[in-house]
Amino acid sequence: MAIPETIINEIQAKTDIVEVISSRIPLKKAGRNYKGNCPFHHEKTPSFIVSPDKQIYHCFGCGAGGNVFSFLMKYEKVEFPEAIEMLAEKLGVKLPRDSRQSAEMASLASQLYKINEIASQFFQVSLTGNARAREYLSSRGVGEEAIKNLKIGYAPDGWELLLNFFKKKGVDAKLLEKAGLAIANDRGGHYDRFRNRIVFPIIDLKGKVLGFGARVLDASLPKYMNSPETPIYSKGKNLYGLNYTKEEIRKEGHALIVEGYLDFIVPYQAGIKNLIATLGTALTLDQVKMLKRFANTAVIVYDPDAAGEAASIRGLDLFITEDVNVYIAELPGGLDPDSYIRKYGAEEFRALIKSSKNLFDYKFDKLASRVDSSSMYGKMKIAGEMLATLAKINNAILKSSLVKKLSEKLGVDEEALRVELKKVKADFTPRQYPKARENAPGGSNFVGAEKMMLALLFDKDGGYITRAKEQLRLEEFKSSSVRDIVEAIFNIHKSGEEVSAARLISMLGSEGEYAMLISEAADIPETKEMTADDKEKAFLDCVMRIKKDNMKDQLVRMQDAIKMAYSAKEEAEVKRLMTEYDNLVRSSKP
Ligand code: CTP
Ligand code: MN
Repeated sequence: MAIPETIINEIQAKTDIVEVISSRIPLKKAGRNYKGNCPFHHEKTPSFIVSPDKQIYHCFGCGAGGNVFSFLMKYEKVEFPEAIEMLAEKLGVKLPRDSRQSAEMASLASQLYKINEIASQFFQVSLTGNARAREYLSSRGVGEEAIKNLKIGYAPDGWELLLNFFKKKGVDAKLLEKAGLAIANDRGGHYDRFRNRIVFPIIDLKGKVLGFGARVLDASLPKYMNSPETPIYSKGKNLYGLNYTKEEIRKEGHALIVEGYLDFIVPYQAGIKNLIATLGTALTLDQVKMLKRFANTAVIVYDPDAAGEAASIRGLDLFITEDVNVYIAELPGGLDPDSYIRKYGAEEFRALIKSSKNLFDYKFDKLASRVDSSSMYGKMKIAGEMLATLAKINNAILKSSLVKKLSEKLGVDEEALRVELKKVKADFTPRQYPKARENAPGGSNFVGAEKMMLALLFDKDGGYITRAKEQLRLEEFKSSSVRDIVEAIFNIHKSGEEVSAARLISMLGSEGEYAMLISEAADIPETKEMTADDKEKAFLDCVMRIKKDNMKDQLVRMQDAIKMAYSAKEEAEVKRLMTEYDNLVRSSKP
């Protein structure tokens, strides 16, 4: 049974990592920290550090690191729930034994679920009483049955209607704020988050209402208001509609993936029931994993403008890493699934799904339509993009046959592609751990710009999080792990909560690279010795370096292309590339 997050947080808050670890292995005090021989690899001189301030551990020798939970899991070889149990027992914290007991427990999570359920009913009742909202839905082709089945509602037009409704039931505004249903104003009061909007509840696989998305009835902005991250709702961790469609998805063996609420509702009501919606954001690993429980194949049904973007195709590689087959169905001319079905009907839509292309063919055709695949530059460009995807395929036989296919389609040597493929792979394998800490020539301790930036983001003063958000795009981080961590930091920060290493590790998982990176960055000694002024300079330096590294990568790739075009005597191509190169160089100068 899942342990409520509130309890996990309580246990984390009450536990002292030094106590837990020192009761298992000898530790010695060293400055503010504790040191000992690492229990996870053989060593004679201690490189295992435990930080009481940050409640994390970290080994400079083998790279192991994490919070108290990950330590117990690794040391005692137990799963997360057992680790929690071990700590709970010591602390005298009661864990819910069965679902009835847990429902009775006045934990925050169960309160929030209950509030959301009641709010959802309130919205549904409001809809029946509001002609304008009902008319709007009917103008969108949403019928009575879909409204009822999908629990669609309406948030009435007023500042305190939901608040007052709950007040009568004795529910405090503070709690509504925690549920994401109310927003605090400057005067210590609250107002309703959702006003005069159609409301779509987001419901988990057990039928619990996690949060809401809410659309205006006209063209005003913002078109959608959504629940913020709350103790029970996290945007990237759920898929809209899966609670209604999981059986159908299992039966069909594949899931259609659409973007918006209406793109789910309209096909659903037309009888196409093996679908889910991502709600306009890029798919996350959590979502792919969730989907994988029900089917091994996904058909992305996006409008071509969105799916055609290189970035969004690259996002699909996530499926490949998880061994999920991906197909892409392209909707014509700016139509989304909702408008397509309304215009052409469900049968045409089904036909379109049947004619979807697999990711390999789709991506190849997209690239070939953008660059000239008969030129040397074009071949290289296409090969580079395709190999990035192929490198992520786990099945060696499939991978090999696709390399062959690529070589045939491009008319290039298969062996050459295999050599290139190996290079791509090298880029993706996580770097050997202790590298960043090794003494660089010249004796100074070298810490990469991205890790340094992470360290600064952990710094409480300086407002680095806000500034990093303004100055860097997530894509500019080269390491995808650092990128994920930075994104998580931004999200925690946005929700107004404190960013701590222990919290991040809990969020991103205490196993694997994340925990290592976080614990290392949180503990980079340089930042402790630095004055505010030093840190300021380091921050500016890191921003610049990250941007520069990015640019350098691009330039190197272009130089290669120029060389190739030159030796192939493609003069026009050389000229074009040179101009592009010049522009890039110019744009990189501040
Ligand atoms: N979205 C959002 N906030 C916005 C715009 C979009 O949260 N300001 C999310 C919503 O979940 C929305 C999805 O992204 O359903 C897709 O966005 P879009 O295609 O713009 O909206 P539609 O769902 O197609 O809505 P409509 O057809 O009513 O315009
Ligand atoms: Mn739409």
